[in-house]
Amino acid sequence: MLQVPIREQSGQSSTKAVILVGGPSRGTRFRPLSLDVPKPLFEVAGHPIIHHCLKAIAKVPDVREVILVGYYDESVFRDFLKDSSKEFPQFRMQYLREYTALGTAGGLYHFRDAILKGKPERLLVLNADVCCSFPLTEMLTLFEEKDAEAVILGTRVSNDAASNFGCIVSDSHTKRVLHYVEKPESHISNLINCGVYLFATECIFPAIRSAIKRRTTRPRLLSYPSSDNLESSFVAAAGDDDDTEKSEVLRLEQDILSDLADSNRFFVHETKDFWRQIKSAGSAVPANALYLQKAFQAQSEELTPPSATILGPNVSIGPRAVIGAGARVKDSIVLEDVEIRHDACVMHSIIGWNGRVGAWARVEGTPIPIGSHSTSIVKQGVKVQSITILGKECGVGDEVRVQNCVCLPYKELKRDVANEVIM
Ligand code: GDD
Repeated sequence: MLQVPIREQSGQSSTKAVILVGGPSRGTRFRPLSLDVPKPLFEVAGHPIIHHCLKAIAKVPDVREVILVGYYDESVFRDFLKDSSKEFPQFRMQYLREYTALGTAGGLYHFRDAILKGKPERLLVLNADVCCSFPLTEMLTLFEEKDAEAVILGTRVSNDAASNFGCIVSDSHTKRVLHYVEKPESHISNLINCGVYLFATECIFPAIRSAIKRRTTRPRLLSYPSSDNLESSFVAAAGDDDDTEKSEVLRLEQDILSDLADSNRFFVHETKDFWRQIKSAGSAVPANALYLQKAFQAQSEELTPPSATILGPNVSIGPRAVIGAGARVKDSIVLEDVEIRHDACVMHSIIGWNGRVGAWARVEGTPIPIGSHSTSIVKQGVKVQSITILGKECGVGDEVRVQNCVCLPYKELKRDVANEVIM
């Protein structure tokens, strides 16, 4: 267990926060970038994905502890936690490692003693792989107003996209959740689960416990509809108390939320602000754009003014990257130590660490329509990634054109390529 001590711990925290960071077997859709950095630490708009979650949690006044729960190796978050503890001295932060993937509720239950330490009244739970403005204070207000057991963050998506998410049927007047179905086969609602929750601690743990108990009377599920196809390995319960039953992977969405909807105290806060999932590597590009646009609206000092080279909109440039004269970079993430030579063009792309893009070369993807929740498109009858991604240390020769490709690390592209995965 990794712990970063808080400088001063005073009073009792009544809201704790957990960020569900998953583990190495889950980031497969984030390849090739996840080959070199764990997805939660990939930098979007100049900060690791989970840094954006911490920044939002920091605005909630009574949070004094944030726990990352996942099944990455302990060493993965060590430096991040050290740096974050300097930036957010108001929290104690720790990473708790599941011995195997326990599911979105299994990890919470496994570490319930640590989570309940200090007797927090409320528990914020954030999926690490979402990007939004995290209106946590508004969720807290609704929670208090309604004397809720749970509040979920919801957003509207197109009817076509809705079935890729958890779907919420609610009473628009009272905001009460009437019905919740995870990734339904037929359309029930276009109000979807954003992966951000606020629970009353006195309710969520008994609810998980009831779900475990029900397992003994219901047939075991063999697979769960997860977008990363979670393995449904059976795992022993975390029981260090009177639990005699064995638990399997437990998922908040399938095992808990549907039942919470039967209570009268489950509410939805619908955000009208931006929201996206960060699943595929390509989805980091719209997430980057959305965070940068938000920073621009807020007139953030972190944004640098445009330079002589034509950068932007929606470009993040990593440390020590060199962009040559006359180069055009738009809607892209350029990572550390990249060299883009003069008069090259990079659009709708991610250029991995230490990459090189030659003079007059073009590296380009296809723009993702505003509001789309998919990063794949069909070209010549084949489904390809709309964002071009070059893994670590790839080189693109002078005048070479790379379009809608995903390129594994260390490749040298010396001829034009389109719509390919380059292995
Ligand atoms: N600690 C831990 N342990 N975290 C996990 C585990 C686990 O076993 N499994 C998943 N996670 C984390 C992932 O890293 C991610 O941050 C989050 O939990 C949800 O991941 P998935 O289980 O793959 O679900 P999903 O992304 O397909 O769908 C979920 O998120 C959507 C919003 O992005 C659901 O909550 C949907 O209802 C929701 O719409």
